Amino acid sequence: MNAPLRIAIAGLGTVGTGVIKLLDESGELIAQRGGRPIEIGAVSARNRDANRGVHIDRFKWWDDALALAEDPDTDVFVELIGGADGIALQAVMAALRSGKHVVTANKALIALHGVELARLAERHKVALRFEAAVAGGVPIIKTLREGLVANRISRIYGILNGTCNYILTNMEATGRDFHAVLSDAQAQGYAEADPAFDVGGIDTAHKLAILSSLAFGCETDFASIYIEGIENISAHDIAVVGELGYRIKLLGLASMTEHGVEQRVHPCLVPLNRPIAAVDAVTNAIVVDTDKAGRIVLEGPGAGQAPTASAVMADLVDLARGHVHPAFMVPADRLKPMSPSPMEHHVGAYYLRLTALDKAGVMAAIAEDLAEEGVSLASIIQRGAEHLETVPIILVTHECQESVMKRALARIAAHDSIVKPPRMIRIETL
Ligand SMILES: NC(=O)c1ccc[n+]([C@@H]2O[C@H](COP(=O)([O-])OP(=O)(O)OC[C@H]3O[C@@H](n4cnc5c(N)ncnc54)[C@H](OP(=O)(O)O)[C@@H]3O)[C@@H](O)[C@H]2O)c1
Repeated sequence: MNAPLRIAIAGLGTVGTGVIKLLDESGELIAQRGGRPIEIGAVSARNRDANRGVHIDRFKWWDDALALAEDPDTDVFVELIGGADGIALQAVMAALRSGKHVVTANKALIALHGVELARLAERHKVALRFEAAVAGGVPIIKTLREGLVANRISRIYGILNGTCNYILTNMEATGRDFHAVLSDAQAQGYAEADPAFDVGGIDTAHKLAILSSLAFGCETDFASIYIEGIENISAHDIAVVGELGYRIKLLGLASMTEHGVEQRVHPCLVPLNRPIAAVDAVTNAIVVDTDKAGRIVLEGPGAGQAPTASAVMADLVDLARGHVHPAFMVPADRLKPMSPSPMEHHVGAYYLRLTALDKAGVMAAIAEDLAEEGVSLASIIQRGAEHLETVPIILVTHECQESVMKRALARIAAHDSIVKPPRMIRIETL
C-alpha cells in the first residue's frame, strides 16, 4: 500500500473526536477505498486533559493550533475549531502558506473568507476542502462540484439548519410557542446555549453563501443575503397555515433572476404536497434545479458526530487519491463578483397576520389599502372571540412584488385599529 496521508486535527470537540472514532472503526475500509491509509499524526485543542471518549495519547499534542498548522510532518491540516475569524482563520492561512492541504467543517470561515483562502490555496498549489461545512453528512458540495458539473443551475434551496427545523416541527406537533420549544431544544442538546446564529438564520445564510457561489460561479457574498429568523413565528401561525395547506420551514434560497442572484433566508410557507414540507426535525434537505439533470433532491442528517465526520473523511479520501482542484470548482480569480438582486425585486405571494381591534370597518380599510397598492387577496381568515378586544386577521395574497407588499403593509400598520406590527411570511410555490 502507498505511504499514508498524514493529517493533523485542530479541535477535538464533536466533529474532531468523530473523525478519530471513524478512523478507529473504519480506517481499513477507508484505506482500501482511498488507496492509502489516513493517519492522524498530531492534534490540538484547548484542554489536553479533557475526557473526550477517545485515546489521544497516541498522537503528538500541540497546545497551539497555529504551530500545529505548520507541523512539517503533516500533509493535511484539519480545522475543526469553528468561528469565522480568530484562531481558525489564522491557522488555516498558516497551513495553506506552509504548503498543506486544508479540510474544514467551518461554514462561517468559508462563507466570509472562502474566496481569499481559495486564492491562497491555489498560490501554494494545495487544496481547500469543506464538504462538512454545508448540511453535515449530505454530500452536496461534491454533488455540485462533480456530479452536476455539466449543468447550469437556476435555483438551489433547502432546509440547512437542523435546530430551526426541529423547533418548527416541534411547535407544530405540540402547539407550543417558540420560546417554550426553544428551551426544550436547548435542554435536549438540539440547540446551543446561545441560539442566535441558528434561530436568527445566520447559520443557514453561511451555508447558502457557499452553495450559491458553487451554483452560480460567483464569489461568496454573505453581506448581500437577506436574512430573517424564526423568532417571530407563533403557534397560531403554524396552526393556521396548516389549515391553508402549508407548513412553515426556514429555507435558504438562491436563484438566478433577471436582476442578478437572489439570495434569501427566511421562514416560508411551503405547500404540504412538496417533498421539502415533509422534512422533519433535525434532517436537512437540498433541492437543486438544473437544466440537464432536472431536479436533484438530497436529504439527510445535517449535523451530528458521525455524519459530519463522514463528510470530513470524504474530503480526506479525495486528497489521499491526489485530487487537488480549485475550492469553488473554478480558479478563484475566475469567479464572477456576485451581482445581488435586492429583495424589493422579489416576486411572490404573502401570508399576513394582523392583530386588529374588533370593530366595524377595519377589514374594509385594510382591503382598500391593499387594493390601492395593487395587491390582490387570495383568502381571508378572521375569527372573532367574544371576550377579546382584538382579533387576529389572516390574509393570503396573490403574487406581487415585495416593494409593493411592503408599501401596502406600511399603510395598514399606520391604522389606529392595528395594534401590533403586522407579520408577513413569504409563500414559496417551489
Ligand atoms: N457539531 C456538528 O454537528 C457540526 C456539523 C457541521 C459542521 N460543524 C462545524 O465543525 C466545527 C467544529 O464543531 P464542533 O461541534 O466539533 O465544535 P465543538 O464541539 O465546540 O469543538 C470545538 C473544539 O475546538 C477546540 N478549540 C477551541 N479553541 C481552540 C483553540 N484556540 N485552539 C485549539 N483548539 C481550540 C475546543 O477545545 P476544547 O475541547 O479543549 O475546549 C474543542 O475541542 C465548527 O466549525 C462547526 O460549525 C459542526
